[in-house]
Amino acid sequence: MNINVNIQYVFDFVTRKEITAFQQEINRHHHAVMHKTGKGNEFLGWVELPSSIDKSLISSIEQIAAGIRKKAEVFVVIGIGGSYLGSRAVIEAMSHSFLTLKKDNKNPVIVYAGQNISEDYLADLLEILNHKDYALTVISKSGTTTEPAVAFRILKNHIEKKYGKQEAGERIIAITDKARGALKKLAAEEEYQTFEVPDDIGGRYSVLTPVGLLPIAVAGFDIRKLLEGAKSMQEMNIQSSSIEKNPMALYAAARNALYKKGKLVEILVNYQPNLYYFTEWWKQLYGESEGKDGKGIFPAGVNFTSDLHSMGQYIQEGQRILFETVLSVEKPHKSLIIPTDKDDHDGLNYIAGKKLHEVNYMAELGTALAHVEGGVPNIQVQIPQINEFHLGQLIYFFEMACALSGYLLNVNPFDQPGVEAYKTKMFALLGKPGFEKETEKIIKLIS
Ligand code: PA5
Repeated sequence: MNINVNIQYVFDFVTRKEITAFQQEINRHHHAVMHKTGKGNEFLGWVELPSSIDKSLISSIEQIAAGIRKKAEVFVVIGIGGSYLGSRAVIEAMSHSFLTLKKDNKNPVIVYAGQNISEDYLADLLEILNHKDYALTVISKSGTTTEPAVAFRILKNHIEKKYGKQEAGERIIAITDKARGALKKLAAEEEYQTFEVPDDIGGRYSVLTPVGLLPIAVAGFDIRKLLEGAKSMQEMNIQSSSIEKNPMALYAAARNALYKKGKLVEILVNYQPNLYYFTEWWKQLYGESEGKDGKGIFPAGVNFTSDLHSMGQYIQEGQRILFETVLSVEKPHKSLIIPTDKDDHDGLNYIAGKKLHEVNYMAELGTALAHVEGGVPNIQVQIPQINEFHLGQLIYFFEMACALSGYLLNVNPFDQPGVEAYKTKMFALLGKPGFEKETEKIIKLIS
């Protein structure tokens, strides 16, 4: 079974013809992606990655992960943006919902640092690490990103004090560019175990490189199945660029047809709380890839049914600039039946005997119908089950659709010039050498 895209709930807003009208353009962009002739083509290493990834690299990741699993109760993943969201998306999707309370948990608990600069957050983490055996990975393709660099400086200090420099060095794994950047230099000097982020793969497309694979393997999940799933999507993509046959082309065309009709915001909807970070990963992928040159669909996310009791109001009746893409999971892993109650005070006997998933599915269907009626088109992405294989499929699906969609918008989906702006201001405010002129400008502006 594969993941599938259902567009039956968009036809009140766009016609099939308006979607298939993108076919010629899609063919051109598909060709550009496959033959590396479009914008940003130096960052297309992810396209063939699932089939071309070196088997010895997979074994080496598994081997290092097994070593960490033996000695660490906690594994700290230091990174931000594409250097952390992919692994977190998969790990959270696959993990027990109450992992830290699970007595028979044999896996290291994965925690994250360097994705913010909160003093309390990092101080809380250090408090915990004082009493736990841990190891860490520091991930930064550029090797110069401030947030992970600051977190790593603090954690390096902590781990060296705790274990001594020699053993600390054996508990640190660096994942970075093969030649450039401060982290590469430091890792070489300290002789850390190091994995490379390939030159031709940008951060938000890097989950299937060691960036994502190492943390996922340490968490105890099967990275081979993840890659197999991605490979199956890669193969499907190679076969055809037809909107009728290729779900990535269909999704890219449908969302652009809706965008053309004034649907400027896409909300990724899940009905499974463990997909929360998958949505975060997706938001980054689409936001950073498409939001430029004054264009792009704004990617948002909601968690239903929780957010039906908050954001649901806006979605039903607010500005009509929204469409939803629903991650629809067909089969849960576990089974829970709603019991009959002889008094039926809560009036729920009408659903007694049903599986909870059935009720959740009716909520999903009912919400789709209500939102469509309220002016919010729905695209459904159907996923047979949450497991490594289908998550791998989903990752490749969204990556390829994002590339096609970015090209449809005529932007470069592989750069992110806009993320530099805040850094310049922050560095100037912090007095970083080289930013003196900007500091002067800011002082004049705010004084
Ligand atoms: O997608 C991207 O390129 C970004 O989100 C980066 O992953 C993020 O800024 C972190 O960069 P780096 O890995 O260089 O620290």
